[in-house]
Amino acid sequence: MSLAAPAPTGRRLLGGAVLAALLARAAAAQTSPGLGTLARQHGFIFGAAVQAEWLQTNPLFAAAVAREAALLVPEWEAKFEALQPQEGRFNFGPLDGILNWGQARSLPVRGHTLVWHIAMPPWLRAALADGPARARTVMQAHFDTVLPRTRARIRDWDVVNEAVANPLGSDNPSASGPLRPTPWLAALGPAYVPLAFRLARERDPTLRLTLNDYGVEEDTPAADIKRQWLLALLRSLQDQRVPIDAVGIQAHLQMQNPFSADKFTAFVRTLRGMGLAVLITELDVREPNRVADGFAARDEAVAAWVGRFLTAAVEGGVRTVLTWGLMDRYSWLVMDPGVARRDGLHHRGLPLDWEGNRKPMWRVMARILGGQG
Ligand code: G3I
Repeated sequence: MSLAAPAPTGRRLLGGAVLAALLARAAAAQTSPGLGTLARQHGFIFGAAVQAEWLQTNPLFAAAVAREAALLVPEWEAKFEALQPQEGRFNFGPLDGILNWGQARSLPVRGHTLVWHIAMPPWLRAALADGPARARTVMQAHFDTVLPRTRARIRDWDVVNEAVANPLGSDNPSASGPLRPTPWLAALGPAYVPLAFRLARERDPTLRLTLNDYGVEEDTPAADIKRQWLLALLRSLQDQRVPIDAVGIQAHLQMQNPFSADKFTAFVRTLRGMGLAVLITELDVREPNRVADGFAARDEAVAAWVGRFLTAAVEGGVRTVLTWGLMDRYSWLVMDPGVARRDGLHHRGLPLDWEGNRKPMWRVMARILGGQG
């Protein structure tokens, strides 16, 4: 038998054996308990934003969600423009796609979002411009249909999203604050926030009612101010005995900005001290303007950033964490030109990479939510 024979065969076998081992390891790596399972075993809830179309048409995405998430949130299908594109004409098709997919896997879905200044159909903007009476009518009509229709499967809604203004120095500074100048504020004044929460509570006494916002995570002068504005709004709502159960902190983190674990933990503790649950609702990471060379170094940097943030959040009392997507390929950070990178690279701000493989961000989340904190 020539020496060559075993070698190529050996190489082929070796190659085949190595490849098989690598594939088996990759498969095992992907089939070990997902973040949702690990989190649940340690008193946490992990979930992710999804899109109905991807769940139905993309097996890789659907498999990743089924493996990793224990809670779903529709990325756009539960927003005003999706649910009521024309006045009085509702379209629950896309949302039902997520609700049905989740129900088939015993995965709950949280609602996002009833009142927001984006994802508004044109007819709604026109109606709000008609003044307070019409504005209240359209808000109530929306809640009258959406909340009973989803009652059996959505038990937690972002009732109002992004009500607090962005201070000077933040990404998109708005007026002097504390309330963001939106068509809802213009139509109804500050009373639109209490109205939305009261209408929701009247329609469903057991629904968890959440106020969701962003820009309160980091150690910047603008975030300091926005945290104070959010606290002032919440204290005002509680003084008016407005029914509100939770605060959602979106956590679209930006590594370009400083972060103080102590400051954020103290902020979460203050919210918890007000009797409010605190959720991290849309976690993802925008890398700094200059990134390290290569995916490995970049992914480690993102993981370290997420580790510091999540440790601070959990220390403050957060028990529910959702990422805004799961796979880098399908992130708004890649798809939205407003936040996509300008250097031709793609943000790597989610737990799974382009192909759905677990990254260091996944591992650090598994450590923190999986009880090895
Ligand atoms: O409307 C079409 C729909 O008809 C079509 O069937 C569907 C097919 O995928 O696409 C829909 O288009 C877009 C949708 O994303 C899905 O890609 C909408 O035009 C577009 O406006 C929508 O953008 C979403 C955006 O909110 C506005 O609603 C993004 O996906 C979503 O990531 C983003 O999420 C927001 C949170 O709600 C609030 N916090 C910030 C976060 C990022 O901006």
